[in-house]
Amino acid sequence: MEALFTINGKQYIAKPSTIPIETTLNDFIRKHAKLTGNKFMCLEGGCGACIVMLKGVHPVTKQNTSWAVNSCLQNIYSCHGLDIITVEGIESKKMACIKIQKRLADFMELNVDFVSWDGHEYVFIDGSEKWKSDNGRNAFKSLAIDADKKLLDACKDIEDLSDIKMCPKSGNICSGKCSSLLNIEKNPMSFTFDDEREFHKVYTINEIFKIFETIGEKPYILIGGNTAHGVYRRSTDLKVFVDISSVEELKTYKVTENSLEVGGAVTLTEAMEIFTKVANENKNFQYLHEIVKHFDLIANVPVRNNGTLAGNLMIKNAHNEFPSDIFICFEAIGAVISIQSSTKSSWSSYFNKGIEISPKDFIFTDMNKKVLTKITLPAIDPVIFFYRSYKIMPRAQNAHAYVNAAFLVQLNDSKVISAKICFGGIDPKFVHATNTETFLIGENLFENSTLQRALAILNDELKPDWVLPDASPEYRKNLALALFYKFILNIAPNEKVVAKFKSGGEILKRDLSSGTQTFDTYKQNWPLTKNISKIEADVQCTGEAKYINDHPPLPNELHAAFVTAKNVHGEILNIDASKALKMPGVVAFFSAKDIPGTNTFMPPKMMPGTEVEEIFASKIIRFHHQPVGIIVADTMEIANQAAEFVQISYKQTNEIKLILPTLKDVIENEPERVEDFPQFSKMSEGKGIETELKISGRFELGLQYHYTMETQSCLCIPIEDGIDVYSSTQWMDATQMAIADMLKLPNNAVNMNVRRLGGGYGAKISRGNQVACASSLAAYLLNRPVRFVMKIEANISIIGKRYACINYYDVMFDQNGKIQELNSAFTEDFGSSRNEPVHMGTAKFFLNCYDHKFFKVDAKAAVTDAPANTWCRAPGTVEGIGMVENIMDHIAYVLKKDPIDVRIANLPSDSEMHKYLQDFLKSTDYRKRRKEIDSYNINNRWIKRGIAIVPMKYPMEYFGTSHALVSIYHGDGSVSVTVGGIEMGQGLNTKVAQTAAYALGIPLEKVSVKPSNSLTAPNAIVTGGSQGSEISCYGVKKACEILNDRLKPIREKNKNTNWNEIIDKAIEEEVDLAAMYMYKSSDVKTYDIWGASCCELEVDILTGNILIKRVDIMEDVGESISPGIDVGQIEGGFVMGLGYWLTENLIYDRITGELLTNRSWNYKPPGAKDIPIDFRISFLSKSSNPFGVLRSKATGEPSTAMAVVALFALHHALDSARKDAGTYENGYQHNLGAPTTTENIFLAADTTYDQFLLK
Ligand SMILES: Cc1cc2nc3c(=O)[nH]c(=O)nc-3n(C[C@H](O)[C@H](O)[C@H](O)COP(=O)(O)OP(=O)(O)OC[C@H]3O[C@@H](n4cnc5c(N)ncnc54)[C@H](O)[C@@H]3O)c2cc1C
Ligand code: FES
Repeated sequence: MEALFTINGKQYIAKPSTIPIETTLNDFIRKHAKLTGNKFMCLEGGCGACIVMLKGVHPVTKQNTSWAVNSCLQNIYSCHGLDIITVEGIESKKMACIKIQKRLADFMELNVDFVSWDGHEYVFIDGSEKWKSDNGRNAFKSLAIDADKKLLDACKDIEDLSDIKMCPKSGNICSGKCSSLLNIEKNPMSFTFDDEREFHKVYTINEIFKIFETIGEKPYILIGGNTAHGVYRRSTDLKVFVDISSVEELKTYKVTENSLEVGGAVTLTEAMEIFTKVANENKNFQYLHEIVKHFDLIANVPVRNNGTLAGNLMIKNAHNEFPSDIFICFEAIGAVISIQSSTKSSWSSYFNKGIEISPKDFIFTDMNKKVLTKITLPAIDPVIFFYRSYKIMPRAQNAHAYVNAAFLVQLNDSKVISAKICFGGIDPKFVHATNTETFLIGENLFENSTLQRALAILNDELKPDWVLPDASPEYRKNLALALFYKFILNIAPNEKVVAKFKSGGEILKRDLSSGTQTFDTYKQNWPLTKNISKIEADVQCTGEAKYINDHPPLPNELHAAFVTAKNVHGEILNIDASKALKMPGVVAFFSAKDIPGTNTFMPPKMMPGTEVEEIFASKIIRFHHQPVGIIVADTMEIANQAAEFVQISYKQTNEIKLILPTLKDVIENEPERVEDFPQFSKMSEGKGIETELKISGRFELGLQYHYTMETQSCLCIPIEDGIDVYSSTQWMDATQMAIADMLKLPNNAVNMNVRRLGGGYGAKISRGNQVACASSLAAYLLNRPVRFVMKIEANISIIGKRYACINYYDVMFDQNGKIQELNSAFTEDFGSSRNEPVHMGTAKFFLNCYDHKFFKVDAKAAVTDAPANTWCRAPGTVEGIGMVENIMDHIAYVLKKDPIDVRIANLPSDSEMHKYLQDFLKSTDYRKRRKEIDSYNINNRWIKRGIAIVPMKYPMEYFGTSHALVSIYHGDGSVSVTVGGIEMGQGLNTKVAQTAAYALGIPLEKVSVKPSNSLTAPNAIVTGGSQGSEISCYGVKKACEILNDRLKPIREKNKNTNWNEIIDKAIEEEVDLAAMYMYKSSDVKTYDIWGASCCELEVDILTGNILIKRVDIMEDVGESISPGIDVGQIEGGFVMGLGYWLTENLIYDRITGELLTNRSWNYKPPGAKDIPIDFRISFLSKSSNPFGVLRSKATGEPSTAMAVVALFALHHALDSARKDAGTYENGYQHNLGAPTTTENIFLAADTTYDQFLLK
């Protein structure tokens, strides 16, 4: 027996003899179908890299249906009878969908790592009704880097394209009969695998029970959508898999006057459609509209397309602490869950064995060998019943709830007849606030006294637990109280609530995103300064752009995984890999003792003073998850599994050493670890006038994970004279040296090759060396190719982050806010090694654009028990500018001044920034908007707004050397370019191509940018510090000038001759048509980049959620080489900064030192709905840079440093909330820093439930 399906029209089979039981569709597509357009990263439904489209016959409607899914969560045997469309299936140029890809490529600034929204976009064109209109656009928005107006218009156009419907196989207009599988027989199927595991595909409930009868006590799973694995990684012990996704009885729904029955295997998407339909048709089901809104906040579209109601409720059953949104909604409305259990007597009696219970009882029910068949939802009279539910999460989409709540009250006028008050996220057992429910009966709900008494009772009965990494009990409790108040405000009759409180009854509503970009372009220089799409945009959209893991499998290839130590400070006694080595498919284990050369991945020649960082720890463990060795096996899955079986024993010791994973821990417990760096400190020239006006404070900034969509990756292939290395490195030279030193090989035996990275942001400057060294070692010792792609948990846990930093300051200033004396001491967080210090940069950027005569800034740093931290987009700069701007804001608070005036007062009198700021104040209409916000805030107690401006001066420095090679081919005059700079999503290749075309005077289409390698770009400096694109362009320009000089005589002799003919003649005259130039740091002078950002946002004081309503960024980019690329860099950099300041939270276990937020499930960078709603980028007009490359300025990092403006806009909003709360005068909100999460925002508003009033 075999599972039969098609991929892009081609038939495939999966059978136990060749395809293991837990193979995902993603695995199959990549490894067996050998299609690499479809990527993966998180393998848990959280990142969207793997989306494909499925097509099949719906078990109930019998209609052909298409839906997008996460292929990483789809079992391959569940694909029986389905057509799968990957990005490769829509690549034909004749097809309409290529228009979609083209349009997206044209409209989007592809400042991204992987692009993999093929499944989503194709579902549009497939014309499936459910994907049209808003729902479809929502799907897009969850993938686009910016849903700006142009894109939205483009999306509308794309919806129009769905009318065209083209066939992926023939390229002709679709006839609708194409699939060979749509009518495949639907008989139950069973597969038994060599390891005795079983997979069954069933079509009736009876068949499920038949299987239950045969499997004894074997651990089993019913596969609804197979997505629960994305929440809790499932056990590897499962023996039986039963796919129930096509069981018709479980996928039906039935509606009567009084009830709606929905089958357990109905997906969340289907449920939303059914609920909407039923709610529209029967007023007693109107509450379902509320539930649909709530479901829309669950996970993301592809997860909802496969994930089922029963699957979700079963997660809650197995893990009571899971804040299931479905459970909370269903419990509040009094849903009834039907469960069927097996009987040994006769198959026909199954249906008599059912029980019906409430969701609350269900979660405590033993579900072994039982099936959740349906959920029955009651009709509820909307005249007397009021239902609302809420989900509050750390970002706008695709995150689980801190706390969720659902409320249903029955009223007679204002008197409560019955009440259901349900909360999730309090503790595993808490569901109903029963005391509050009881109290409310008979009370008049819309009176302050009732509300206050109810809140007091609720306050008493809510006792949240605290299991890290969950939010604090204080927040979760007060949030629950606030949500109850929000509910009352929302349902209260108009006259019962004073106007000022009314906005508290609403949730924040996000408008469609829009954006504007204003820049100069100089036609005479085109293609230089021309706004063009990124040259890889098309291949990224069609999936043809290749990353390291897209290399086809090589003969004899192996896969690697790190073995890591968990005992911080422990001294290794022995490493026993015998158990792992016995696993089928495991080939070898290597550790420090197997390294022929030096055991460090930081070569001493990389930078002065580089200290050893062991590839594999040889003795003392310095942080949780430090690699001690590498397992190599036939597959990535086996390698990762086997790595867990390696046992490490440690020397016994009586010494108890505290584990201090964070900077705060070190400063509080072992301050002696803090080291001074006076050489990088900034000394003051004394002090100004003596005044009484003084502040002191503390400002704490956390770590930030780089969140590249391509994790650290490397493919090493031993060759006759060394090793070919395909590494995701930003610094080929350093990686080459590290590998050569470790293998005791000459550098010229290590050939580095880099096509492109799926994102770098600094994470791959040096940290990738460890992965490259480990995989090279295995490849070298085994003489077999080794591929190492880190899984997300390992990548987050093992790799260092942006430095955390803590700042203490004392400042004296005059009445205008002008600083007269400033003493600031900051400590940066090295992590476990001092190799990549940023404190010198921090001290420099602390000065920002201000008059710093009286600034004394002490630079310090400390070693912590965590992975060595590393450079991360604008390293030190983000902290430096953040810290000084926080001081400006603090001064303004004391003086009760508009912070922009304090900032202006501190500019040197001759600063260019005066003019820039005046223009910016005008273009943003700042003063007027601030006034309007202040009056809005006076009239609104629970929604507050804030606005702020931050100026920036960014001194740009250049360093190192880098080659560029330009070759012209006489066959057709086309040109190839290769540079030492690495393309990692930032558009380096596009700028390089524009430069070459401009410098040679040829069309852009003639230029192709080739991968970087260590043969043509030896000793290349790192691509980092914003300089990579500029210095690569410089080298290309110079190489082209060399070629132009050589061609000059021919051109002079042959005026009015076209390029191809010139090249033909050049070859006749034996002119060398390849030229190389090595850029050196003295080629370019340092310069300042000026910028300013203005942010306006809105805060829901009752939840802590925010909406960034508008952001304006003005940046000086000189004459932008490629305006669209620079806009993308500025937008992307700013949004990355927003993540740092607002959502990205790394939480460590204080006892073990383990990082607890190491998955997409619990680490949250901003999503598409967290970006500024109205995003306006303008380049400083008529700017030109005589010192830079082609009169341009760098753009990679500066905007990241300006994102701190969001924090100060928040301060403005929170100041008003604190005034209302009566706590404003208690002091500056210096407890806010990075990240200021939803939780921190809520707590900083000083909201207590006694403020929750109606009148
Ligand atoms: C990235 C991501 C984000 C998410 N965010 C949220 C969120 O914010 N809020 C939220 O509430 N949920 C969230 N979820 C959970 C999501 O709703 C569930 O994963 C999904 O509903 C599970 O359904 P499934 O059919 O895929 O379950 P499966 O994975 O197929 O099965 C899960 C379990 O249920 C059992 N089971 C399945 N069907 C039945 C049945 N009919 N009878 C008995 N047992 C059965 C299986 O044996 C298995 O043990 C998220 C999930 C992911 C992956
Ligand atoms: S890899 Fe599938 S969603 Fe991330």
